[in-house]
Amino acid sequence: MKNEIRIFSPATVANVACGFDVLGFCLDSQGDEMVIRKTKEKGIKITYIEGYDLPYETDKNVAGVAALAMYENAKPDCGFEIEIYKRIKPGSGIGSSAASAVGSVFGMNELLGKPYNKTQLTYFAMKGEALASKSEHADNLAPAIFGGFTLVKSTLPLDILQIPTPTELYATIIHPQIEIKTSEAREILPKNIPLKDAIAQWANVGSLVHALHISDYKLIHRSLQDIIVEPYRKQLIPHFDDVKFSAMEAGALGCAISGSGPSIFTLNKGIEIAKNVKDAMSLIYSKTNIDFDIHISKINTQGIKIIN
Ligand code: HSE
Repeated sequence: MKNEIRIFSPATVANVACGFDVLGFCLDSQGDEMVIRKTKEKGIKITYIEGYDLPYETDKNVAGVAALAMYENAKPDCGFEIEIYKRIKPGSGIGSSAASAVGSVFGMNELLGKPYNKTQLTYFAMKGEALASKSEHADNLAPAIFGGFTLVKSTLPLDILQIPTPTELYATIIHPQIEIKTSEAREILPKNIPLKDAIAQWANVGSLVHALHISDYKLIHRSLQDIIVEPYRKQLIPHFDDVKFSAMEAGALGCAISGSGPSIFTLNKGIEIAKNVKDAMSLIYSKTNIDFDIHISKINTQGIKIIN
């Protein structure tokens, strides 16, 4: 059995407009790399971090906390070292903390001979995600582990459904260079919502899931609406309404906040429309003094993977 592996841990888009805390999909254009190594000495050590200034203390690092959750359950006769090559900017809204959490548990599971299934890995990773966002949700973790689109039917007990990915779907994601902390973006949300809003939102979740199953792009378009969370969170993202308007004019099927923001994603039918949408979204931020980066990504149906 191997003693060391290098993995690609992908970025993800959570919520997918209407599915706050339950829906997500996996990207292939961005992700972290991590090296996980078995050691004779017991315990979990983070030995190298590149890219961003993150804590080396195991119990203060998302990857470390997730690793500890699994380690305490598995009680293996070895320890692990973790190297993190962080490419996804923390606080960007495309599952940076989820990628770290998923990377350590996936890597350790491989090196232990795969004692855990994907749902169990998601459970351990949730412990790391909770450190970052002060809430145990799995809508970034599940697509990073399973690939494609996922729906977290419940977190207690953890129950994850995989949803088919229509083949012509491309995402365009713009990341204005401001930081939004997930915990803060959650605090501004209302504790209660009107029943009529809940009805509209769960109708959209149902129709989006159905549309993904039957590759009905027009129904995807009609379902990608968030009437509950977006009105609060968009105030944290400068020029959100302008970006959304331009993206929709350029032909996007839908446009919404990626996770807790500030990234904004669109889903598009075909690469050509995705490119037009990229130009339209870029134009809005290029007229401001806010730096941004923007990516087109196919939906990553594989999820996290070994790269050596
Ligand atoms: N569902 C989460 C949120 C995703 O929107 O707060 C970000 O972790």
